[in-house]
Amino acid sequence: MKLLRTAEDLGTLDSLRDGNLTVVPTMGALHEGHLSLVRAAASHGPVVVTAFVNPTQFAPGEDYDAYPRDLQQDLDLLAPLAPAAVFAPDTATVYGDGRGVTIQPGRYAEGLCGADRPGHFAGVLTVVARLFGLVRPDVAVFGRKDAQQCLVIGEMVADLRLPVRLVDVPTVRENDGLAMSSRNRYLDHAERARAACLWRGLSAARALAQTGERSAARLREAVAAALADADEIEYIQVRSVGDWTAPDRVTGRTLLAVAARVGPARLIDNLVLDITDDGAAPCGLLDHGGNA
Ligand code: PAF
Repeated sequence: MKLLRTAEDLGTLDSLRDGNLTVVPTMGALHEGHLSLVRAAASHGPVVVTAFVNPTQFAPGEDYDAYPRDLQQDLDLLAPLAPAAVFAPDTATVYGDGRGVTIQPGRYAEGLCGADRPGHFAGVLTVVARLFGLVRPDVAVFGRKDAQQCLVIGEMVADLRLPVRLVDVPTVRENDGLAMSSRNRYLDHAERARAACLWRGLSAARALAQTGERSAARLREAVAAALADADEIEYIQVRSVGDWTAPDRVTGRTLLAVAARVGPARLIDNLVLDITDDGAAPCGLLDHGGNA
């Protein structure tokens, strides 16, 4: 496992370019969820994990300064998985003098985290495009926990016809269902226990959908009931994945997404269901693969 810091260092990857170089973009502070992305990536080809806390996706007042950074711990966690390289650039390597090109998201940034975090997805797309330019991957692997991010990136790749295949990997959960997140470490013991309410709500909505409920409002109410344990609900949304509309009645590939504050942490979670006349089965987000 090589540690690469600069654009020049990335030249050492050239011998691995056999058409399957696979990138797992992260902001470091790795946990089991990230490791599952690295394991999934390894089935596609040699893996490069990027670790870069991207300043442009944090709005003023968000947790950019507090965001956990421990490269040595990340390297220790990755070592048993033996990715080909870890790319941990500094800000100048990614952004130069900071006055260059930025990328604006399309329709999938509307609503949800796009409404709560202005500029967030432009920051995500700008860094992902820049990381793609630096690493030049054939495949890129993202976690389904950041569902809207997956869709925003999927639209960029499709619209710009970038030669990268995207794969979304199912969310890894704690025993009580809490989605793994670097921000879970902001929670104290009691908050951590309450944080499981996001998944409880989504599971309740899924059970309703599986018994035939097709009203988006009813599904949202089921999530809301469980979120009485959160300190503040930021959104509970039901969206049609295909066209990003908010339907009254759910059908086809449907995203149920939630954001809530528990103590100091802003937590997000979601569920993707393929809803037909016959039922509501969990499914993936992206059409490019990895949708198992
Ligand atoms: O999902 C993340 O950790 C980040 O948003 C990403 C994709 C690495 C871009 O900074």
